[in-house]
Amino acid sequence: MEEIKVRLADLEARRAKIISGGGEERIKKQHAAGKLTARERLNLLLDPGSFLELDQFVRHRAVDFGMQAVDAPGEGVVTGSGTINGQQVYVYAQDFTVLGGSLGEMHAAKICKIIDLALKTGVPVIGLNDSGGARIQEGVAALNGYGEIFRRNTHASGVIPQIAAIMGPCAGGAVYSPGLMDFIFMVDRTSQMFITGPQVIKAVTGEEVNPEELGGASTHSSKSGVAHFHCHTEEDCLYLIRTLMGYLPANNLEDPPYLSSNDPPERLCPNLLNLVPVDPNKAYDVKEVIHGLVDNGLFLEIQAQFAPNIVIGLARLNGFVTGIIANQPHYLAGCLDINAADKAARFVRFCDAFNIPLLTLVDTPGYLPGIEQEHGGIIRHGAKLLYAYSEATVPKMTLILRKAYGGAYLAMCSRSLGADYVAAWPTAEIAVMGPEGAANIIFREEIKQAEDPVQTRQEKIAAYRQKFANPYIAAGLGIVDAIIDPGQTRRELTRLLQRLVNKRETRPGKKHGNFPV
Ligand code: HXC
Repeated sequence: MEEIKVRLADLEARRAKIISGGGEERIKKQHAAGKLTARERLNLLLDPGSFLELDQFVRHRAVDFGMQAVDAPGEGVVTGSGTINGQQVYVYAQDFTVLGGSLGEMHAAKICKIIDLALKTGVPVIGLNDSGGARIQEGVAALNGYGEIFRRNTHASGVIPQIAAIMGPCAGGAVYSPGLMDFIFMVDRTSQMFITGPQVIKAVTGEEVNPEELGGASTHSSKSGVAHFHCHTEEDCLYLIRTLMGYLPANNLEDPPYLSSNDPPERLCPNLLNLVPVDPNKAYDVKEVIHGLVDNGLFLEIQAQFAPNIVIGLARLNGFVTGIIANQPHYLAGCLDINAADKAARFVRFCDAFNIPLLTLVDTPGYLPGIEQEHGGIIRHGAKLLYAYSEATVPKMTLILRKAYGGAYLAMCSRSLGADYVAAWPTAEIAVMGPEGAANIIFREEIKQAEDPVQTRQEKIAAYRQKFANPYIAAGLGIVDAIIDPGQTRRELTRLLQRLVNKRETRPGKKHGNFPV
């Protein structure tokens, strides 16, 4: 009896040491830097009392550079499982207080075990990253650990949702595990991601840049598009991960969580009538349309600051999670460009992988013209959107609010790309190109030879607009299914979605397609 007490006391002492991570001093330093510890983060992320820790006693095997004498509690990463609003998740949180959260062979093995378990049991995986990168003393064994993680991230892609939060440094190849996951959260001022840091850049190219400017949350949320969510604080970040999880199924074989809504599906939206100006040259904020349509106006926007000419995010329609993709006339008139195509295509593929129906709101004058776009590869980038929509088998609903011209009309989930339902407002203009451009081309000679070319041009534009810039020609061809009163849009969409949720569509078996990149 006494012996067991001794053993238990020993276990408790060992545990206490591991739980205290790098010790009081380093925890103080972590707090002073405005960061929480790995365990504090997990406490905020998971439902209270739900965390089940694994591999507490894992130890490194390194001997070089004095590592034999170095104790690394928990191997610098806390791993296990827990629940978020009752939904199971696997988690890992790197502990910066232990060797800077650096990734050695056994640290990587702990993370790999978590991804393997998440994949086998079909539950999402969430990684909280805060690390100085590959553990330098371990050299190639650490590098190999990264490779093991990358392979697992890839195999898990499209099977379970994978979420990365960057809550400190994330440098070198370490950025690629988050890069392979579905969503990246970054925290303002305390998180940075880059392949090569400021010092290396200065040495190689002579450019001077500080870490925040190079790879901080602002940079990756607005310029590079690497980050999907830009959070002000760690608390906001962990709360937002919980919110996102509320929209996601556990895996690709399950449907996203249905949440019965107190917002009546038949609710009329009379304010939508005045929101979208009939004049196709006037801008408006498409997010107001989205807020008006979805349950209780709740819309979780993704990549809000990157490529704002297209809006993507998750909401519910009569309780069913829906992925929304909308042109934003407020920016670049809602044109499609390289970044917009990349942003929307990846989101469409995410939704399709996880059984989330798509609602596409169209108001775009076309692809953004310009040498920069052409030389930047708008052909291959734009092709991603065509590919993603054509490939998707989830219910696809399209609503044409106003302009839908040319290739951009096709790219925004047109009937020909497999939309299950295409509705248009009476303000819709579906045509091969805008009336101005069309009139310039087809009436070029007449305009040139007219007594008053300016007047004639205006007349021709008006004639073209009158004849083609409306939804009735497309509706006459059956490629628009319904022309609806904007005020009744929510009612139409919720009814339609109800009828489409059980949609089943298959594609020919193949190893995989060759997605344009
Ligand atoms: C071992 C590391 C470490 C690392 C930090 N530490 N990074 N130990 N390997 N990669 C240790 C420090 O020695 C220190 O230990 C403790 O962690 C805290 O680090 P500080 O430097 O005191 O913290 P801070 O001032 O906040 O600076 C954080 C940092 C800096 C910017 C991350 O530590 C740094 O530059 N680290 C090296 C980054 C790096 O070059 N990593 C390798 C990238 S290559 P003590 O005992 O003093 O507290 C890579 C390849 C991956 O990752 C490729 C995958 C394909």
